[in-house]
Amino acid sequence: MYEQLASAAEYIQSIAKNPPKVGIVLGSGLGTFIDSVENAQFIPYSDIPFFQNTTVEGHEGRLILGTVEGIEVAILHGRLHAYEGNPMEDIVFPVRTLATLGVESLLLTSAAGGVNPDFNPGDLVLIDDHINLMGQNPLLGKSIRDFGPSFPDMGKAYSNNIKEALISAAKEIAVPIKRGVYAAMLGPTYETAAEVKMLQILGADMVGMSTVPENIAANHLGLSVGGISCIANMANGIGPKELAQENIKERAVEVMSNFSKLLCLTVKNIG
Ligand code: HPA
Repeated sequence: MYEQLASAAEYIQSIAKNPPKVGIVLGSGLGTFIDSVENAQFIPYSDIPFFQNTTVEGHEGRLILGTVEGIEVAILHGRLHAYEGNPMEDIVFPVRTLATLGVESLLLTSAAGGVNPDFNPGDLVLIDDHINLMGQNPLLGKSIRDFGPSFPDMGKAYSNNIKEALISAAKEIAVPIKRGVYAAMLGPTYETAAEVKMLQILGADMVGMSTVPENIAANHLGLSVGGISCIANMANGIGPKELAQENIKERAVEVMSNFSKLLCLTVKNIG
């Protein structure tokens, strides 16, 4: 695994103008943020040794290097999911590569279903913590000791510094954000109403099928990790909180614009 990571990192270094400082994983539908990247270099995953390509439609597989607010970033646009049948090792390989490149902070973004009845589609939610219900863990196996401790502490799975960076960014641009606990399910089915009720009882505010594997692998490597979810829909049984059809496009544009501004300023605050 070490050799594979080293050759992926070496290839990226041969293209990168400067080493990246902040890593970002962009969730599905959140690609407009890329318009905010300056001096962008695009590297298809298929060009990077040992990077697997994504198979989900609308999940483009490419690494983007560049600067945001003057800070060097590396953006993973497109991620592998467990529901595609990918082994956890492959899912977290790109994040481990960013760490090999010297990235110290990682921002994980995702679309999620709203479980908290106070949430609405379009809400941006800071991830305070997570519940891993995927039945899998990227650190299973012997190689775990090559990267970090055998029993990693997850008490600060989402870094307080990054939470503060996100909150002050949101205040500065007057974008409302909520906070919540992200439950990760294996998928690919969306949850039944009974499962959503279970998630509420367990203390989850939103549910998705990503984020947690990358968070675990990044924490294991000692990175500071932050997370932000965009509520794409309300989960089953939470109520018919559909967006008014005539407003759906404008609202989506507004949400994407807020998301991009929030991410830019958060990068600046972290950097
Ligand atoms: N459930 C799980 N994952 C999701 C959802 C959902 O409702 N919405 C977006 N990703």
